[in-house]
Amino acid sequence: MRDALEINGRRLAARLESLGEIGALPGGGVCRLALSEEDRQGRERVLAWMRELGLEVSVDAMGNLFGLRPGLEAVPPVMTGSHIDTVRTGGLYDGNLGVLAGLEVVETLNDAGITTRRPLCVAAFTNEEGARFAPDMMGSLVYVGGMPLEEALATRGIDGERVGDCLEAIGARGDAPVGAPSVHAFVELHVEQGPVLEESGVTIGAVEKVQGISWTEFTFTGTSNHAGTTPMRLRHDAGYAAMATATFVRELVTRIGGDQVGTVGSLEIAPNLVNVVANHARFTVDLRNTCNQRLQQAEEELADFVERLAVQEGIQVEHRTLARFDPVPFDAAMVDRVEASARALGHSVMRMPSGAGHDAQMLARVCPTSMIFVPSVGGISHNINEFTAFHDVEAGANVLLQVLLDLSE
Ligand code: GLV
Ligand code: MN
Ligand code: MN
Repeated sequence: MRDALEINGRRLAARLESLGEIGALPGGGVCRLALSEEDRQGRERVLAWMRELGLEVSVDAMGNLFGLRPGLEAVPPVMTGSHIDTVRTGGLYDGNLGVLAGLEVVETLNDAGITTRRPLCVAAFTNEEGARFAPDMMGSLVYVGGMPLEEALATRGIDGERVGDCLEAIGARGDAPVGAPSVHAFVELHVEQGPVLEESGVTIGAVEKVQGISWTEFTFTGTSNHAGTTPMRLRHDAGYAAMATATFVRELVTRIGGDQVGTVGSLEIAPNLVNVVANHARFTVDLRNTCNQRLQQAEEELADFVERLAVQEGIQVEHRTLARFDPVPFDAAMVDRVEASARALGHSVMRMPSGAGHDAQMLARVCPTSMIFVPSVGGISHNINEFTAFHDVEAGANVLLQVLLDLSE
């Protein structure tokens, strides 16, 4: 460990604020949906910083950004990074912290005149959120070879636009081959986005695993009819079915208990009028569990419920898997490294799972990987009020610095 070396927290906070200006929302927070005009501007700013710091910049055909800092040896780099896309009502920290802390580590090493043995690489992966184009973690999934590039480019978003067209439209499609540069190890700094660290009074989370994720879109098709004249026995109500399913999801996950969570976060019904029985409903279900068996149980029970409900109500149902990822354990030695570095810097640290999805879970397919979490005030995230205290941002970035130095020697 290099005791004297510390990142510059003010400089990191200034970059977080600066990036947060792009897509800033009136009440605070950010809307920088993947491959939007705001994403284009965010990419420009990050690329400009990478170049100012002397990094060798490359952009692959999926729009993933990489900034390489050469080492003494021309071997695969130690990589860090995250994403700069946000949900529609996002905060300043989700993803952005991981990318900008990587840049801050680079600047710290530049200032100190340190050349590491292995190269370092800071990455910003395309469309981590999946809020516009499913699945989430799309850029890192393609990077590790988990999804063919062509399939990703052909994916249509919630607005009907194709990933490939949007990449072209914002000039984000690069010419570096997908999968380059190859990676020696990956570590991602991220805000926890949940309440555990704050409630435990602990500064650093050494992330041991990411829970499994299951996203399904359901579409019910019924018959629209007059809300006053249609007897209940003659209804084929797609709106009722959607809302009954949402209620079932809450009951299901409560019954399964433990880590099981479930969310109906998107719902549209048509014609969406006070006096018309809805003939159309489309909604999403997000189910997550650290235990894959329990997650499968939840998926099966939900599928059974929906089938029975459609028969009872005399409506059609279609479903489409938007994302399905098993739980991902991180490399034990990498988790140890995070924990040891945090302790060596005098921080309280606990091992924990991640409730959110992260690019690191994709990188774990190809190299030893772990994550560093810092507390989210009030456990709030995917919300414009997402906030992490300055001293925690600083602590997390210093742990990142030490882990990267350690891995690159
Ligand atoms: C990504 O942010 C997710 O966990 O939904
Ligand atoms: Mn994130
Ligand atoms: Mn997110």
